[in-house]
Amino acid sequence: MMEKDVTILAIESSCDETAAAVVRNGREVLSNTIYSQIDLHTLYGGVVPEIASRKHIEKINQVIKKSLSEAGVTLKDIDAIAVTYGPGLVGALLVGVAEAKAISFAAGIPLVGVHHIEGHISANYIEHPDLKPPFMCLVASGGHSHLVLVKDYGEYEIIARTRDDAAGEAFDKVARAIGLGYPGGPKIDKISKEGNPDAIPFPRGKVEGSEYDFSFSGLKSAVLNYLNGCRMKGEEFSQADVAASFQAAVVDVLVTHSLHAVKEYGIKTFAIAGGVASNSHLREAFEKACKEEGIEFVHPSPVLCTDNAAMIGSAGYYEFIKGYRSGTDLNAVPNLQIGEKQGVFLAK
Ligand code: KG4
Ligand code: ZN
Repeated sequence: MMEKDVTILAIESSCDETAAAVVRNGREVLSNTIYSQIDLHTLYGGVVPEIASRKHIEKINQVIKKSLSEAGVTLKDIDAIAVTYGPGLVGALLVGVAEAKAISFAAGIPLVGVHHIEGHISANYIEHPDLKPPFMCLVASGGHSHLVLVKDYGEYEIIARTRDDAAGEAFDKVARAIGLGYPGGPKIDKISKEGNPDAIPFPRGKVEGSEYDFSFSGLKSAVLNYLNGCRMKGEEFSQADVAASFQAAVVDVLVTHSLHAVKEYGIKTFAIAGGVASNSHLREAFEKACKEEGIEFVHPSPVLCTDNAAMIGSAGYYEFIKGYRSGTDLNAVPNLQIGEKQGVFLAK
């Protein structure tokens, strides 16, 4: 731990949440302000990039002001600005990056660009002040499904990834197909509680030659085929049973592959992160499986699973104390890979 406290203003705008937070020493959240655009995008059945960018521009100053005032600080108290610069929607990312660069330049505050997924993983540091690497983390969000070995702060090895759809994407697509609308994850989670997870035996996707990787497109097709079959026979289908059976298949695959990797790599702590990590059935299943295997299971509370800036403030802290900085040439990188750095360098 450094002697002096490090207070970070974090900014996140990679998708449809305009968010700012003030985080002290990577673990203590002084404020976590989120303006969610979900209601706006619900009208279109999904995130419309152009609308997201415009809304970010409209809201970002308000969100930052609110975050600073709720934390009881001014820019004079801020030691660094951390901003998500990828991956995500390029227009949406650019709003946060431009804003962070402008504040950094005007107020003379160091800037550090942060990887969105590394932020998701770091949400676990906030929730569990004693959590230290190494640990294995499943990141399951709208755009990503990765199994990541966190070897040290800011040091990652990707153990598995999805070959096609992300887990959250599958939730959203299936929800739309069964008439639940957007965003699908929370709706499937809720209605599944009234359904039978064993009603329909949907496939558990496997990837030939890769024991840990995920594949969800076959499952999505199986759900669509099932629905078409019902329509052709003129039969009604049960939304709750389809949702519960689909969810059971996703959770089964995520739990089986994750636990397999945790055991093979001899890791003692397992974490989850990303929007799908707020799924109640997924949390219960991991709780049970980890208990059986004697593995410690940690997870962020739901508000830190979906997009927020506090997680960026935590990841940014560990980058900042290692000496990483960004300049006014920091750009949005829509397809930034985990562990990759562009415009983030070690300061002398
Ligand atoms: O991490 P996130 O907020 O944004 C991305 O970085 O993608 O994740 C959003 C995704 C969406 O696909 C949403 O449907 C899913 O997370 N999600 C859930 C739940 N809450 C959000 N999926 C399953 N169960 C939930 N309770
Ligand atoms: Zn996210």
